Amino acid sequence: MATLRVGVIGDPVAHSLSPIFQQPAFDDLGIDARYERWHTPADQLPERIKSLRNPDAIGANITVPHKTAVMPLVDTISDLGQRIGAINTIINRDGQLHGDNTDVIGFQRSLLECRPAAERDHVLVLGAGGASRAIIAALADLGVASLTICNRTPARAEALLTDLQIPGATVLPWTDWDLMTAIRDHSVIVNATSIGWNDEQRVLDPALLDAFARTGLIVDLTYRDTPLLRDAAAAGIATLDGLPMLVYQGARSFELWTGRHAPVARMMAAAQQARHAG
Ligand code: ATR
Repeated sequence: MATLRVGVIGDPVAHSLSPIFQQPAFDDLGIDARYERWHTPADQLPERIKSLRNPDAIGANITVPHKTAVMPLVDTISDLGQRIGAINTIINRDGQLHGDNTDVIGFQRSLLECRPAAERDHVLVLGAGGASRAIIAALADLGVASLTICNRTPARAEALLTDLQIPGATVLPWTDWDLMTAIRDHSVIVNATSIGWNDEQRVLDPALLDAFARTGLIVDLTYRDTPLLRDAAAAGIATLDGLPMLVYQGARSFELWTGRHAPVARMMAAAQQARHAG
């Protein structure tokens, strides 16, 4: 039988860590598959997705900026994928393509490792863009004690909550005063804005962290060492970056493609090693 094909579809994908931790998982389980980076500009997306129907393709991960654009190109979508309005996993079922969202479970699992009693947490999410959707749905489904969204454009946060059908969450505007009071009253802060991906911009002034409980957790969705994570660590606050979420979403995707239990520890070790290397 031919080697099976699977990969990550996005633009760009050159820096994706997915092949680095997915390939060892296939190898460890003795599955003859190659996980590749499939760089795909938007105009080539239909052709790329069509190729997933071939018998040697088992599926794909979908990353930025295609998580919503691929939805009309597949045959069926899980309830969760429809609710989030984005899919990050496609499974080829005998030529029929099924879309699912494993970002939600990936985030939940990484958060629960740090906060096993997350239902007691008061969670402040910064941002209401594309990346926030899966995070906010994940938190609401975990049943956190309270959920607050702070966004520069509050109407966007309101619309997101209505769309995801999440009642009872609070929306705050992005002012120093609102941020300061919210930081004092919450036990987990998640940065889901696009600020802080480079070192030039800080999402929160370090002085604001003085008001944050030292028993709390600060989460940044990138898997780099961001100014926010550095400031939090310097202030003695626990931090969580996006690497565990990335691995756990990938492990769930692996299980959907193969029907086998993912070797998660092996995948995590490979991802951590790659990050340290570069
Ligand atoms: P992504 O898919 O990465 O979430 P996005 O949909 O463009 O990207 O969302 C970016 C998020 O970062 C939004 O919440 C955005 O706030 P707005 O909804 O008001 O645009 C937030 N953001 C980006 N730059 C910001 C800035 N300089 N100050 C405050 N919030 C910012």
